[in-house]
Amino acid sequence: MTKRRVGVLISGRGSNLAALIDACRQPDYPAEIVLVLSNRADAGGLGRAAEAGIATAVVPHREHPDRESFEAAVHSRLVAAGCELVCLAGFMRLLTPWFVSRWRDRLVNIHPALLPAFPGLDIHRRTLEAGVTIAGCTVHFVREGVDDGPIILQAAVPVLPDDDEESLSARILAAEHRAYPRALALVASGSIRIDGNRVRTAGSTSPEGLLMCPDEALGLRPAGAL
Ligand code: GAR
Repeated sequence: MTKRRVGVLISGRGSNLAALIDACRQPDYPAEIVLVLSNRADAGGLGRAAEAGIATAVVPHREHPDRESFEAAVHSRLVAAGCELVCLAGFMRLLTPWFVSRWRDRLVNIHPALLPAFPGLDIHRRTLEAGVTIAGCTVHFVREGVDDGPIILQAAVPVLPDDDEESLSARILAAEHRAYPRALALVASGSIRIDGNRVRTAGSTSPEGLLMCPDEALGLRPAGAL
């Protein structure tokens, strides 16, 4: 089986990266990570990648005079590594239309909220302050807006009465670690197509897309599947 070559961009601890690395170890998983790139040399995820034998690169944004030259450097590293898809996994730099258009429909992000609610930063505090009872995460193709683009998959978790930022973010993070590998598999296997702002699961109305996690009532639904 031909695996799609994936570059992962990180800025920090890299727990989503670790979930993707684990998934890619499965022989029948349709993607392999060929490069992990960080804008910060102290990103914990770089160590996780190195332990897994994956090539790493650091492109410090502060050493570039502007966003364009930073992104040109990132882009050329991705191209040199033969990346076909790019996953943002806690990559905390805004990307310009130039970069987004280079990787259009091949650039995926994970965000710890049920978009389009709560884009941006400080998500868990804002989620608690808003008093919502359902939170979750979204994996989506990247467009020019912040945390915007066609939704591939969302996972929902409850917000419990006693939650604080720590407990809520831990519950959402567990959902992220299930959602991201599943969403990348959908993209890498070519089993979805983008229809305007909607993602369709190719030729499938199978309930396979609905996945309940018994201990957390976690729902995973690829957009477009019934
Ligand atoms: C994750 O919660 C991810 O959803 C979030 O950063 C965290 C990175 O954690 N990304 C965003 O907020 C993007 N807007 P990780 O480094 O352990 O994967």
